Amino acid sequence: MASSFDKNNPFAASLIDRRRLSSPASQKDTQHFSVSLVGSGLTYACGDSLGVFPVNNPAAVTELLKAAGFSGDEPVTLPKDTASISLREALSKRLALNGPTYKFVQLFHDRTVDEAQRAQLSALLAEADPEKKKAWIEQREYVDLFNEFPAAHLQAQELVELMRKLMPRLYSISSAPSKFPDEIHLTVAVVRYETNGRKREGVCTTYLSERARLGQADLPVFVAESHFGLPEDDNVPVIMVGPGTGVAPFRSFVMDRATRGAKGRNWLFFGDQRKEHDFLYADEWAEYLQSGVLTRLDTAFSRDQATKVYVQDRMRENAAELWRWISEGAYFYVCGDAKRMAKDVDAALHALVAEHGKMTPEAAVDWVKQFKKDGRYQRDVY
Ligand SMILES: Cc1cc2nc3c(=O)[nH]c(=O)nc-3n(C[C@H](O)[C@H](O)[C@H](O)COP(=O)(O)OP(=O)(O)OC[C@H]3O[C@@H](n4cnc5c(N)ncnc54)[C@H](O)[C@@H]3O)c2cc1C
Ligand SMILES: NC(=O)c1ccc[n+]([C@@H]2O[C@H](COP(=O)([O-])OP(=O)(O)OC[C@H]3O[C@@H](n4cnc5c(N)ncnc54)[C@H](OP(=O)(O)O)[C@@H]3O)[C@@H](O)[C@H]2O)c1
Repeated sequence: MASSFDKNNPFAASLIDRRRLSSPASQKDTQHFSVSLVGSGLTYACGDSLGVFPVNNPAAVTELLKAAGFSGDEPVTLPKDTASISLREALSKRLALNGPTYKFVQLFHDRTVDEAQRAQLSALLAEADPEKKKAWIEQREYVDLFNEFPAAHLQAQELVELMRKLMPRLYSISSAPSKFPDEIHLTVAVVRYETNGRKREGVCTTYLSERARLGQADLPVFVAESHFGLPEDDNVPVIMVGPGTGVAPFRSFVMDRATRGAKGRNWLFFGDQRKEHDFLYADEWAEYLQSGVLTRLDTAFSRDQATKVYVQDRMRENAAELWRWISEGAYFYVCGDAKRMAKDVDAALHALVAEHGKMTPEAAVDWVKQFKKDGRYQRDVY
């Protein structure tokens, strides 16, 4: 029977394990989480993602309330809701504390009781350079605006009507249902950065790593099905390119093939900053290599030498062999960063198809299009 839990009715799951994958000396903080599905009736497939509804950091909520001059007890009604809730509840669980828009700056302009601040807000609204205008607002969260323009007096209801909804975050599942039918593993890079001279944190990644309590059935989750997945035929070889957290679904793929004794060959390209500190699941890959489940593992540690080395460099070095695998029917998978990595890997794929398939660049483009259409070139990038 299908589970009754989904995005609109998430399951209150328990976080049952949390451990750091990158070393304390790493410049990154990548963590492994296990979430129990016991009692949910939820099932998942390799390639699916888990949706997680986070809660904002209470300290950030309190800081915003204070900056805006609210107690938190003010009743507010969110768009599409009928019942009212307290402002603190809305800011904790329902609304994003980042991403103000110029509509909000306009409201500040209209409601300020200080003429100098109104002039400053007018100038911001009138900024002619769209890049400058965008950069200014992107550096700020709601709390910054209240701190910088304290003379604007807003109603709690006006504030919540302008804020975006706090959305669930998706994470590629890194466990295999054949081995862990009742739990889901995640591989998560904790997001921390600085804007406008202030330290910022990703809502969901810090919620999972710092605030979610182990063993409490209070983490709202759902399974998001995906087009991304292993070939039906277990004999088909697979090539997986997954630097950083992009390795998550490939841990699931390889674990699944190992558990089920699938005979198809498996080739993983993994990359991260430094071998000593960022080699995610190194022990597991070593075991899979030894048992023969993993046919090949090629790694690219970008910061272990003066010149950057990336997964696509390893692809280039192995282009003839990659083409051989593809000609023998291999599927080609890419997961991880969409902005740069996936584009560069795509370019490397086109180049090797042209060179080793002896095609013009135009013919290689058509060939890769068909490769995708056939479902043999799959990407899960974010
Ligand atoms: C299908 C899918 C699968 C995914 N799988 C994984 C996975 O397996 N593992 C994983 O770790 N993530 C994965 N993600 C990403 C994940 O969903 C979240 O987007 C990510 O964890 C950040 O969430 P957060 O709530 O912590 O950060 P948020 O609070 O959403 O903050 C992130 C935002 O902060 C801003 N930001 C971040 N860094 C900077 C910076 N340096 N400078 C300025 N602004 C910045 C950007 O606006 C960014 O959008 C996946 C996404 C998708 C769509
Ligand atoms: N906004 C961005 O520009 C950006 C960029 C990367 C990741 N992210 C996000 O940061 C989060 C965590 O990232 P992650 O842990 O998955 O790892 P990641 O930051 O993607 O890094 C993993 C490895 O990929 C390398 N890399 C950087 N650029 C590359 C490229 N063009 N081609 C191939 N490899 C490249 C990195 O090298 P170096 O770091 O040494 O260059 C590192 O060795 C993800 O949510 C991701 O989307 C955002």
